[in-house]
Amino acid sequence: MYPIDLSTDRLSLRELTTDDVDAVHALYGNAEATRHLSFEPRTRDQVGGIVARSMVSAVAQPRDEYALAVCAADGKLIGYARLALEGQRAAQIGFALHPSVWGRGLGTELVTLLLTLAFDRLTLHRVWAARAPRNDASAALLHRVGMTEEGTIRDHVHVAGTWRDSVVHSILEQEWKAGAVLTAARDDGRAAAYDR
Ligand SMILES: CC(C)(COP(=O)(O)OP(=O)(O)OC[C@H]1O[C@@H](n2cnc3c(N)ncnc32)[C@H](O)[C@@H]1OP(=O)(O)O)[C@@H](O)C(=O)NCCC(=O)NCCS
Repeated sequence: MYPIDLSTDRLSLRELTTDDVDAVHALYGNAEATRHLSFEPRTRDQVGGIVARSMVSAVAQPRDEYALAVCAADGKLIGYARLALEGQRAAQIGFALHPSVWGRGLGTELVTLLLTLAFDRLTLHRVWAARAPRNDASAALLHRVGMTEEGTIRDHVHVAGTWRDSVVHSILEQEWKAGAVLTAARDDGRAAAYDR
């Protein structure tokens, strides 16, 4: 599926371009944004490579990776999101927003858009995410969108010279269709923002 264009009132997901390298570097080169991720802050060259590989994978046939720009309503790139297909109708998601926009519900909207892509557009059965044990914001977000904590992968990533566990969360297509996300979001009036 190409190109991807999904949005809420406040956020959109679109394909990456070479013009995005500086904005992605502002995120992936940022120590606060990457504190709980599986890598240390990236250099601009490394980010250039990531964007280039993302653009190649976007047009691959069949496509098995959706590495996307997350943009605010004014078009500014504020995050990076990735959905990687694997196994049987399954995918892993990853996501990050710039710290300047944290705490406004945008992360919840972003992951809801990724799940919309996964279940409504790509008709997947299972989506999972892995977070650092101390990533409390991600834990709250993944619960908020209806994902169930499954357990721990021991020594899953090697980062900053040490092994780190990951906590796995997942959601199945029947749970998504049952509206777990909308039910959770409706509690604080966010449901109307979602384009489902
Ligand atoms: C994780 C991340 C996307 C959350 O984005 P956000 O826009 O701040 O999230 P939201 O505002 O939608 O909040 C989602 C939930 O997390 C909670 N939360 C946010 N920051 C928190 C924190 N520091 N500690 C505990 N809970 C927190 C919110 O209260 C909310 O819970 P609620 O709906 O039950 O009230 C953002 O912190 C981020 O990009 N972090 C760096 C990258 C990263 O860790 N990615 C996840 C990899 S698994």
